[in-house]
Amino acid sequence: MKLLWILAMAGYTLWGADGYAVYQKQCMKCHVEMMEKQEVLKHLASLKAPPMVEVSHRLKENVIIADEDSDVKRRVIVAFIKDYIENPSVQYSMCHSMAIEKFGIMPSLKGKLSDEERQAVAEWVYDRYSGVAFK
Ligand code: HEC
Repeated sequence: MKLLWILAMAGYTLWGADGYAVYQKQCMKCHVEMMEKQEVLKHLASLKAPPMVEVSHRLKENVIIADEDSDVKRRVIVAFIKDYIENPSVQYSMCHSMAIEKFGIMPSLKGKLSDEERQAVAEWVYDRYSGVAFK
């Protein structure tokens, strides 16, 4: 039993942080996980940021990579999210200007997440919504 536990712990550190757990701890208070477009408009006043499903879709729509079959698009978007967590800026934001007027620019979370946590949560934001529509 003890050996199993040690192996499980080793696995955890090898695989890195759990993206969903990082999301719940660091992002959820501002970015709702799932919401339909209509609901977003209805609840705009009480939202602190665009829902994560919208963020994920918007990045995937905006970033166009010539080789559709490659993993390049995922890597580019994951790198963007990873960087945005520490360096949010009106210059880099791909949000609608209307959304930025409403929410303001995201505050930097510099120092709050380790490199592994940023990587894990960025991958989660990309993968969580593959095959999930935002409508
Ligand atoms: C205090 C509130 C707050 C927290 C916490 C927060 N965000 Fe944001 N985030 C925002 C707001 C507001 C925006 C929209 C304005 C903007 O683009 O900066 C945003 C936008 C974004 C964008 C979109 C950038 C773009 O150009 O489209 C990404 C990606 C993002 N957040 C990721 C995250 C991740 C990942 C976390 C958790 C590690 C997180 N955010 C935590 C408020 C927050």
